[in-house]
Amino acid sequence: MKAFWKNLTMAFGLVLVLTSIVGASEVTEHDIQQGKSIYERSCLICHGESGKGDGPAAFYNAAFSAPRARDFTVGNFKFRSTVSGSLPLDEDIFRTITNGIPGTMPSFSGLSSEQRWQVVAYIKTFYGGFQEEIPEVIKLAGLPILSAAESVRRGKILFQDMDCHSCHGRQGRGDGKVALAGELHDSRDLPISPNDLTNPTGWKNGATASDVVRTLFTGLDGTPMPSYESQLIGHEDDAWHLANYLLSLSGQN
Ligand code: HEC
Ligand code: HEC
Repeated sequence: MKAFWKNLTMAFGLVLVLTSIVGASEVTEHDIQQGKSIYERSCLICHGESGKGDGPAAFYNAAFSAPRARDFTVGNFKFRSTVSGSLPLDEDIFRTITNGIPGTMPSFSGLSSEQRWQVVAYIKTFYGGFQEEIPEVIKLAGLPILSAAESVRRGKILFQDMDCHSCHGRQGRGDGKVALAGELHDSRDLPISPNDLTNPTGWKNGATASDVVRTLFTGLDGTPMPSYESQLIGHEDDAWHLANYLLSLSGQN
């Protein structure tokens, strides 16, 4: 029996060692150095030398001052597939760099995918939590519901019942009473407006129905846009109805 436990512990130890070797071999010091030089060339102007979002563009160009470029030293990210308060997955950061952020950050799809992974590795060095925390991915159960008149109708009711309108406005134009009162600020105390939901080209976290469902589950951390995970778990259909309704506002479905 003793031998059994000993073997089991050794086998387990071996798996751990192997996983850490595989994990470590994914990102090399060379990658981080390459990522640093890409960062200095393409990102520093907005995100700043020390990653605090205080690059020269934030101060000399009003268009880049709100929202301020992300401060990578605090581990607060908007566009994730992880629960509110969790760090993003590497894939989430990669997606943001590839797509850019409408109205605020250009797309870097012109960099090779290797270069984009290298800059992901580099920006993770600004926040120690990436070494310790394991991001918790949102659990999406159920299947997507395709848009249909009935789904859009139910989404419209949910939009009013769940109080989305207080920020986004009854018609989704971003003119709800809380927004008009000028009460909305981000985590750096800069003013922030709820999106005009009739214009998906400005949506930062993507504008397909599954992007909207992700936004509703994760929330946009650091902004007043909350996570609705606790209300939507077990009611995933409602998330799809809301997404279908929002996309119907611009005549997309
Ligand atoms: C023109 C200015 C500008 C440049 C250049 C720029 N960014 Fe950004 N970036 C921003 C702004 C502004 C935000 C915040 C947008 C928001 O909160 O809506 C941001 C946010 C981010 C985020 C956070 C996404 C999240 O989930 O919160 C990441 C990651 C990021 N940038 C990476 C990069 C990388 C990597 C580069 C260089 C390859 C880069 N950025 C270049 C302006 C810029
Ligand atoms: C307390 C105010 C508030 C409430 C309530 C709220 N939102 Fe938002 N929402 C925001 C703000 C602010 C943003 C913009 C965040 C940004 O630009 O970073 C936003 C952004 C969004 C976006 C766009 C995300 C993107 O990709 O840019 C969608 C979609 C959205 N909200 C849907 C909803 C729905 C549906 C509800 C109700 C279930 C809701 N919101 C409730 C404040 C709110």
